[in-house]
Amino acid sequence: MRWVLRPSQVAGTASVPGDKSLAHRALMLAAVADGESVIAGVPDGADVMSTVACLRTLGADVTLAENRATVHGGLRAPVAPLNAGNSGTTMRLLAGILAGRPFSSCLAGDDSLSRRPMQRVVEPLARMGAEIETSDGHAPVSIRGRRLTGIRYRLPVASAQVKSAVLLAGLDAEGETTVSEPIPTRDHTERLLSALGLDITLDGKDVTIRPGIVPGFRFDIPGDPSSAAFAAAAALLSGGEVTIRNVSLNTHRLGFFRGIQRMGADVEIRTGGERLGEPVGDIRVSGRVQSPLLIEPGDVPSLIDEIPLLALLATQAEGRSVIRGARELRVKETDRILAVAEILGRLDASIVPLDDGFVIDGPSRLRGATIQSHGDHRLAMMGAVAGMRADGETVVNGVEVADVSYPGFAADLHRLGGTIDVG
Ligand code: S3P
Repeated sequence: MRWVLRPSQVAGTASVPGDKSLAHRALMLAAVADGESVIAGVPDGADVMSTVACLRTLGADVTLAENRATVHGGLRAPVAPLNAGNSGTTMRLLAGILAGRPFSSCLAGDDSLSRRPMQRVVEPLARMGAEIETSDGHAPVSIRGRRLTGIRYRLPVASAQVKSAVLLAGLDAEGETTVSEPIPTRDHTERLLSALGLDITLDGKDVTIRPGIVPGFRFDIPGDPSSAAFAAAAALLSGGEVTIRNVSLNTHRLGFFRGIQRMGADVEIRTGGERLGEPVGDIRVSGRVQSPLLIEPGDVPSLIDEIPLLALLATQAEGRSVIRGARELRVKETDRILAVAEILGRLDASIVPLDDGFVIDGPSRLRGATIQSHGDHRLAMMGAVAGMRADGETVVNGVEVADVSYPGFAADLHRLGGTIDVG
């Protein structure tokens, strides 16, 4: 499937699917909880559906209707391998949950996920006493559940997935488990566990968890700021103003919005309360990007998934933008450093890939071209956003992959005024 795009103004008010990171965590916690949980705002992207499928294979009773999940907790030995599809969060967080369970399980994924590094979760879980085998550090991941013991672990890579895997394993381990992170990453797992009354404490860079039982809970998942970033970027490129309602305002997820503000965009954030420890509210974006962007390693985790969009926006800034410290992009759904440089280069941008980022010289006049999604949902949608600005026609091939996180993306872009034909 492909999208054909023409320059058009994107403006208006939007809502986006529920936050993917929160959905994975809420569903997994509900599946180990004692009692019934009801989760509203479950996004229907393929990644979250992979988590639902794995939890069902593990015997959890999950009923889904109109984005509302009713879950009765309780896991048992699966009779088939667990298929995490394209979802790194599903595979890594579930590895943490399964490492201390009294049964064996095997996590598999699609080709892209099978190329992504899994040793980063195996290593700390093995130190806790887990018995885990991989195929040379990659999926499939075979786990023989063992009684775990808490550890003190310093994250060698800034990864919320690894941190969460260790904390979830710690929920079931003997003694306390501490994860120390040199650069802070998204803290949804900690916030949810704390709001649910688990014994989890923060001390500077350290998070410590003691074992406990998750109670059944109710949660209304706010919108995904990573999905909201597409409408915001499209508005900035086309001179429109958008308001995205009801999104997570977790500071570890807002690096993109801070970045565009530094580039000269007007960003207004209106907080409207908290749900299980997650701040929620609306984001309004207008204006345009003018100043170049400097991204340093400490900024990266709070905007890791939005770097493709920031690179696109940097092509319109006046001067040289530099993004460093983002080597993790090499091991996302595809090598996003190579792929972003390839896509933006095809649109006539001046972009040079670095080992851990990019150098982008702007402003460039983008010219429509035929580009590929590289089998990566965020790159398919970045290509569509670029098409709002590029002269002539932009064609993005392989766009069905957008369903991984945002099945309604094309319809939402169209609703906001974007000229997009699906074919
Ligand atoms: C995620 C963490 C990030 C992010 C991914 C979702 C999460 O990955 O890129 O899309 O839900 O914990 P890493 O923690 O591996 O950097």
